[in-house]
Amino acid sequence: MKADEHLASMRARALSGGGERRIEQQHAKGKMTARERLDLLLDEGTFVELDQFVRGRPNELISEEEEILGDGVVTGFGHVDGRLVYVFAQDFTVFGGSLSEAHAAKIVKVMDLAMRNGAPIVGLNDSGGARIQEGVVSLGGYADVFLRNVLASGVVPQISAVMGPCAGGAVYSPAITDFVVMVRDTSYMFVTGPDVVKTVTHEDVTFDGLGGADVHAQKSGVAHFETDDEVQCLLLVRRLLGYLPSNNLDPAPLVPTTDPPDRADPDLDRVVPPSTTKAYDMNDVVRRVVDDGAVLAVHEGWAQNVICAFARLDGRTVGVVAQQPMVLAGVLDIDASTKAARFVRFCDAFNVPLVTFVDVPGFLPGVAQEHGGIIRSGAKLLFAYAEATVPKLTVITRKAYGGAYDVMSSKHIRGDYNVAWPTAEIAVMGPEGAVNILYRDEIGRAKDKSARRAELVQEYTKRFANPYVAASRGYIDDVIEPHETRPRLIAALRSLAGKRVQDPKKKHGNIPL
Ligand code: HXC
Repeated sequence: MKADEHLASMRARALSGGGERRIEQQHAKGKMTARERLDLLLDEGTFVELDQFVRGRPNELISEEEEILGDGVVTGFGHVDGRLVYVFAQDFTVFGGSLSEAHAAKIVKVMDLAMRNGAPIVGLNDSGGARIQEGVVSLGGYADVFLRNVLASGVVPQISAVMGPCAGGAVYSPAITDFVVMVRDTSYMFVTGPDVVKTVTHEDVTFDGLGGADVHAQKSGVAHFETDDEVQCLLLVRRLLGYLPSNNLDPAPLVPTTDPPDRADPDLDRVVPPSTTKAYDMNDVVRRVVDDGAVLAVHEGWAQNVICAFARLDGRTVGVVAQQPMVLAGVLDIDASTKAARFVRFCDAFNVPLVTFVDVPGFLPGVAQEHGGIIRSGAKLLFAYAEATVPKLTVITRKAYGGAYDVMSSKHIRGDYNVAWPTAEIAVMGPEGAVNILYRDEIGRAKDKSARRAELVQEYTKRFANPYVAASRGYIDDVIEPHETRPRLIAALRSLAGKRVQDPKKKHGNIPL
């Protein structure tokens, strides 16, 4: 056979993966092959494959003839919207996408290249876990990948799309990455499967009920996004990448907009209801402020009392953190604190400015929250905000009570530009609670107790529950009309373009995990 014919035949063998029958089985499950997925993920014609001819090491359980070129993972680099990304896509048609020594080495190679060249890494996971026939060598391969995940954390963005099984210790690679996307009905993640669960805890549960996309995007918070199908999943990864810088030194892409920087929105003046206990949709506020009303919510289905989202101001990516008064009155609980803390840390690591909208009645009271460690979780958010050195802009729309006032990007923890709307209430606690503590005896002595309480509440509200006490101390920089929010934030963001902060030297802090 001539050299070119030999190459063509080798290439054809590599491209056919586990063979026609297994490709058909994959399609029958509503899943694409690794190569079909990469075609959709990357700009057309940009994929450059590496290690197509790598083979596994034969042993007494797998013969040389059984070893398939590429060894169950397609790796390389390509472009998303013209920007470089490194990719690996596990090929379920080859030994169920299971991870062998050679398979792991291919992933490690692209991760090292991504770090060295400052480009994001996207992993498409679809695997039966450790290659059983290889034993501990495969476990070692996983550990090599985990180490790269940790070393790359904060250097280049890491995105995991889980598009099939991801079980056992294998889950810890996606779990370390910055964002996990899951596909409904066809993907699942769990540490131990339904059979083991049944044996150990006698619980009957399906694969999906234990670790499907809904579970992780709505209950556990393991997944940041869930999509209805694989096409949506890959398009979402592309969209997400559009907001992110390629690494921790480069800026996020600038996306020019026709939305004027000085656009005032009079409807914002009517968003906060006259009654302080009435809810409103904070998404509406965020959309009216950012460029073109466009946001990409992160963890949209989990801990919905806090909103975390990417958006743009003046063409630049910002990370938005905002209370959602429509859910649990926007209170901070364990999950909301954890969700926001992780998002704040991502933004800080990758120089994405933070814009925080505050309407927080405090931390959620209750035995379950205390016993579950709301102290530990709330401290995560406080730590994350205080540690963050990116530009931090804060708008208090209504309530900023108690410790939550401090935590939510306050001036005291290095907020750069902190403003309040006239409807803001900044105090140690809400008027009702404060009056009951301060004037218990006086109310007890009053003839008409409820009338006296109402009077005292009114006095307290006038005196404390407004933005002017904080403004008089310089704790907020200004009280602004809601309609001016966008121009004010953009002006502040521009002023912070050269922000420099020097923290005390240390190995690393000890965030309360
Ligand atoms: C080798 C594997 C494999 C594995 C699947 N296959 N998993 N080969 N090692 N881990 C092979 C199957 O033999 C089969 O080969 C093909 O892949 C497709 O698998 P099916 O079982 O036919 O597919 P399906 O019915 O869709 O079931 C998928 C599955 C199941 C649920 C993932 O294959 C499964 O339970 N696999 C084992 C999962 C597991 O226990 N892995 C180890 C977990 S512990 P043929 O030739 O028939 O096509 C772990 C530790 C990681 O991973 C530790 C990190 C620190």
